[in-house]
Amino acid sequence: MTYKTNETYITPISAIPRILSPVKAKKSPEMLYCQPVINPHVQKGMEKTSIELQTAIRAARAAGAVTLEKFGELSLPEIQGKNFKDFVTEVDTTCEAVISSIIAESFPEDSMLCEEGTAVKGSSGRTWIVDPLDGTLNFIHSFPVFAISIALKESNNELLAGVVYQPVLQELFTAERGKGAYLNGKKITISSRSDKESFLIATGLPFTEYHYLEAYIGMLKEVIHDSAGIRRAGSAAIDLAYTACGRFDGFWEYKLFPWDFAAGVLLVREAGGTVTNFEGEHDVFQRQSIIAGNSVTHPLLLEKAKKYFSA
Ligand code: IPD
Ligand code: CA
Ligand code: CA
Repeated sequence: MTYKTNETYITPISAIPRILSPVKAKKSPEMLYCQPVINPHVQKGMEKTSIELQTAIRAARAAGAVTLEKFGELSLPEIQGKNFKDFVTEVDTTCEAVISSIIAESFPEDSMLCEEGTAVKGSSGRTWIVDPLDGTLNFIHSFPVFAISIALKESNNELLAGVVYQPVLQELFTAERGKGAYLNGKKITISSRSDKESFLIATGLPFTEYHYLEAYIGMLKEVIHDSAGIRRAGSAAIDLAYTACGRFDGFWEYKLFPWDFAAGVLLVREAGGTVTNFEGEHDVFQRQSIIAGNSVTHPLLLEKAKKYFSA
């Protein structure tokens, strides 16, 4: 795998930059970061949740509060290009500092792999995988589709817990291995649709690596014929969460990173769906491609991916 891991140190909560305007903020940043989680145990239908999941939920909600304070208000100097067409804002880095502080406080022995560079090598063999803001380009353009994605995996790449939180809609998607997937505490399952004419399929378009554009367009054309519609919402974490709850019937994307998909993969699996890479392998951390769907859409998309993307 080729994803980046710049060494940085965990920022204590007291050192997190104050991006919240004192006039607009109804609570102090410390209060926002430490706001109590709605106890998932009392949410109807939700099985008892682990301390790990509760911590991930608390971290996601705290970061969500940060995003809502700044949504629609970014100005150009606050936006930097990391790489070609790859942007990072102060909100991305602040969310990452908030999340990593909360997780490190509770689980100092775990490792951490975060998109904006926070990398911690722990001794437990477990790794938290964090996308502090998935859908940064949407966020910059005030397009209200973005999420916080937090997952925990073991050294054998088995996912233990995952959270995708969409702050604008206050939709909290959660899953733990073997315990099902939930949206705001209510159990979710993937779509049961099986007729091609009714499928709504999500994807991500290649905007930097043009060498596989032809393959991508070839597959896209076929999926257009085999579905009622295609959506490109701009957040892989949301695409997977929506596949988990049946809004989308399937999802495929090439060249994703672990932080884009880790939590969403567990959501889909715990909701009864199948997730592999374009080779059909279940260990999705071996490569950077994802196909998710039900017993009809997953094989359909996999067949097309193999046709267009195999070397
Ligand atoms: C992006 C989103 C997008 C996907 C890109 C990702 P970011 O993540 O998930 O849907 O197509 O490949 O990089 O940069 O907004 O965190
Ligand atoms: Ca992302
Ligand atoms: Ca991101």
